[in-house]
Amino acid sequence: MTPAPFTLTFDGRRITALPGQSVAAALWAAGILAWRTTRHGGAPRGAFCGIGACYDCLATVNGRPNQRACLLPARPGDTVTTQEGTGHDR
Ligand code: FES
Repeated sequence: MTPAPFTLTFDGRRITALPGQSVAAALWAAGILAWRTTRHGGAPRGAFCGIGACYDCLATVNGRPNQRACLLPARPGDTVTTQEGTGHDR
């Protein structure tokens, strides 16, 4: 049986995900490669290692900053937003 897709949002944009996908995988599948900026210089970052070691993939998920998108399972209705710097700068 094919798992039923569900939706989450990224910066207000609706994204389709499948059960078992990480937040990073769902963003990648939607063509989104960057979802945070660095503390110094504001350079774009997304997933790099994909295994929870590099912390490049930090995102704000459901209002909680610094979530490793490569490890976090996507859930229906998740609200993912671009994280700027430490995620506490807004
Ligand atoms: S991509 Fe390296 S910790 Fe998530």
